[in-house]
Amino acid sequence: MKHFIDPLDLTLDEYDLLFRLADNIIESPVDFLDRAKGKLLASLFFEPSTRTRLSFEAAMNRLGGRVIGFSDANATSTTKGETLIDTINTVENYSDICAMRHFKEGAASLASKVVSTMPIINAGDGGHLHPTQTLADLITIRRHKGSFEKLNIGFCGDLKFGRTIHSLVRAINRYEDINFTFISPKELKMPDPFKSFLKKYDETESLVDAIPSLDILYMSRVQKERFVSSDEYERLKDFYILDPEKLSLAKDDMMILHPMPRVNEISPLVDKDSRAFYFEQMKMGMYGRMALILYLLELV
Ligand code: NCD
Repeated sequence: MKHFIDPLDLTLDEYDLLFRLADNIIESPVDFLDRAKGKLLASLFFEPSTRTRLSFEAAMNRLGGRVIGFSDANATSTTKGETLIDTINTVENYSDICAMRHFKEGAASLASKVVSTMPIINAGDGGHLHPTQTLADLITIRRHKGSFEKLNIGFCGDLKFGRTIHSLVRAINRYEDINFTFISPKELKMPDPFKSFLKKYDETESLVDAIPSLDILYMSRVQKERFVSSDEYERLKDFYILDPEKLSLAKDDMMILHPMPRVNEISPLVDKDSRAFYFEQMKMGMYGRMALILYLLELV
């Protein structure tokens, strides 16, 4: 049994298989309507979510499976002091596969160590990793760039707490000739453990300086909920705003990605630009999760 806790839990061949499977689903969704019939997904969200939770639930429903779960841990026995391990052991009695989001780094990994029949999917663990967002990101990039080789990828915003960024950097570093450009204020720099294994990277505070040479710009939200000091959040929240003026400095085929939600960091005036891929990215999240569920349930 396989889990998906860290983007490196799957090999490049396994990613290729998921990409092809997602392509097939996109091309012919009717062929998949009852692929997961009789299977149950537990959707456990200890932290707020819109796209991740709804796309997991849509994915399972579109495969003919069913979903149980919660989107508010305050309505569960967690409030009575139940441990995560007891919750997971309980859920394993009812479900075939489990997607979980938790505010603690390492929570999904801990869950994967206590189950014996139920694959665990990490839908975000604190400021650490978010591998299924990575799957959505990779599918979107592959469909428009054709491959992952020879790309200069800029990550802009909250690189310290951005789990989607930590995950994508880990995953895409396995391809050849990738350059990473980390664009952040010094308080929100990419943490050393996520940089130590990179072959090539640059760091800057200036989006304007970096944008002309980028093939992909991955924007991110400054994550209010992870700050200890609200003053520091207020000072940093609008550090970067991508607007048509800054975008005019970019290549004609630069892709703009954002895991969403956005606050102010991408002006809505950018939404209709042909380089804006963040709406497509959220759709790819559902197809990627459909492919992943089938793979982890050994239904492919
Ligand atoms: C992100 C998350 O929750 O990590 N969103 C997502 O899952 N698509 C990004 C964020 O919250 O800023």
